[in-house]
Formats: sequence, structure tokens, C-alpha cells
Amino acid sequence: MDSTILPEHSTGPTPGFAGRFPYRHLLGIEGLARPDIDLLLDRAEDFVEQNRQADKKVSALRGRTLINLFFENSTRTRTSFELAGKRLGGDVINMSVDTSSIKKGETLIDTAMTLNAMHPDALVVRHPESGAVQLLAEKVNCAVINAGDGSHEHPTQALLDALTIRRRLGTLEGLEVAICGDVAHSRVARSNIHLLSIMGARVRLIAPSTLLPAGIERLGVEVHHDMRRGLDGCDIVMMLRLQTERMKGSFVPSVREYFRYYGLNQEKLRAAKPDALIMHPGPMNRGVEIDSLVADDIDRSLIREQVEMGVAVRMAVLQILVEAQVEPWARNQ
Ligand code: NCD
Repeated sequence: MDSTILPEHSTGPTPGFAGRFPYRHLLGIEGLARPDIDLLLDRAEDFVEQNRQADKKVSALRGRTLINLFFENSTRTRTSFELAGKRLGGDVINMSVDTSSIKKGETLIDTAMTLNAMHPDALVVRHPESGAVQLLAEKVNCAVINAGDGSHEHPTQALLDALTIRRRLGTLEGLEVAICGDVAHSRVARSNIHLLSIMGARVRLIAPSTLLPAGIERLGVEVHHDMRRGLDGCDIVMMLRLQTERMKGSFVPSVREYFRYYGLNQEKLRAAKPDALIMHPGPMNRGVEIDSLVADDIDRSLIREQVEMGVAVRMAVLQILVEAQVEPWARNQ
């Protein structure tokens, strides 16, 4: 099947696709429109209930093959995609590729061509280089889902965060969301900034200047260097891990110092709204960016719910992209 009639993701919304997801791939949140996001979240909502039943399996991906191609370590994202594919009734293959021993560019294209020859229906790709997933998507015929590329985008994480918030507060519109920590190296932050802005929430970033990318204000966010001022009156606090594996050189004086100024604890959290909710994409570094008393607060921490929503969101994305491949409008005729 040739699906070239479907635009690549990132070209902006296509007219005439009302009620449908008008893209072949999910490479990022940037460029999506509000109806695209609503469509994915509404579909994910159905899977939340499905996933709570004893029999969690449906047959939407029956006969289809999903390949998880991870050039970077991952526990929760890979497991979540694997479960999502299996619960949809698909065949799931996991491939972990060690990038340290081989020339990266060469491996990426070679691997893409090899996998493409096996006719997968969807490829889920994580790669340490920003833009690598897009490059791979240009070489294959199936749907490609970005599971995190360098510090660029991690669209399913932003979608699962949105679903978690929407289920708790009903809407994202008008919310004040603070994203705190290592924004410079975070694809989660970038995807969330795009998604929250598209959905009508306001975003503040809180970080030392060494952990903020230059010119980030252009994305329409408010920037703070002081936790208490930045958290003042916010509805949601999203904490980010210090991504030391992406740091070349020293970005913070010491972990102790970092926790003192930017670690979320009960005292700093008092600056936020009294019922403000706490989120973290994981993996968490307790005592570095977040204190256990806050992370484990059963009334205010959404961290466990985020993991649950991850499976539902990934099922929705897989189903919608694979469904699009068999729609008449997706065929080249
Ligand atoms: C994030 C990632 O890999 O970008 N984790 C995740 O997907 N659950 C954030 C992180 O690694 O800190």
C-alpha cells in the first residue's frame, strides 16, 4: 500500500480531514491543531476503561506488526508501547540498538531499510539525536511514532500528561502550568510547551539560566529563575529530571545546591495554589529535583496516574495511525 497521499506530520493541519487524524506519523506535537489533540485524547479515554477490565485485549491491531526500535535506554516508555501494541492484538518486536559501538548515522538508515523490508505497520523509535526519528520516517513506508529524539520532542509523553490533567481537572484551558528543572535537555518540556499552548494553558518555566535554552521565550512562555516566584498561584507543577547523560560539562554547582534552590519540597510547594497537582515524567531522582514527601503525596501527586495514562494514550496513537493506513482516503488511487 502506498500512503503518500497522507501528509507527513509537521506540515500543519490538512483541510477536509475533520474528525480524523490527518498524518502518517506522530513525530512531535509542534504543528498539530487542537482537534488533532482532542481526537487522540478522546480515543485514549476509551482505552483507560478497557485497561481496567480483566480482559484488556481488543483486536484493532490483529495481524499487524509493531517494532519498538530503541537506540537509547528506556523502561517505562518501551514497556508502555509494548503493552499498548499487545493489548491491541498486534505482534510486538522489541529491538534495542547499542549506539556506542557503531557509527550512528549509518546504523540508523541501515536499520530503517532492514526493518522496512520486513513490512512492519508501525515503528516506535527513540534516538539520542534530535531529528533522527524524522530522518528515519522519511525512509520507511509504515507509520513512525517518535518515542523521544534527543532534546527535541516526546509527543506521547505530552499527550499522556494532558490526558492525566484533563481527567483530574476537566480541561487544560486557562490553567497555569509550571515546568521546572532541566528544560534545556528535555524533550518532555518541549512537547509539553507546544501541547499546553495549543490547548489554551499558560506555561511558566522555572530553571537556572544554565538549564534554559537560549530564546525559549519565543515559544510564548514566562521564564523564572526563582522557584517561589515561579510557582506562585500555579495549578500544576511539572518536575523534570536533571538529564546528566545529555550534559557536556557542568551545568549545576552540585546536586545538594540544586535541590536547595530548585528541588520541589513541601515548603516551596506552598507558593503554588493550595490544591496544585504535582507531575513528573519519570524516572525520578528523589532528593535531586523532588522530595519523596511531595512525590508520594497521594492527594496531590499524579505521577502514578501518568504511567497508567501512558498505556491508554499509546494505544490510541497506534490505533489511529494504523487505522488511517486502511482508510480509502489514505490509498493512492
Ligand atoms: C523522559 C524521557 O525519556 O525523555 N522519560 C520518559 O519518557 N518517561 C524523561 C527523562 O528521561 O527524564
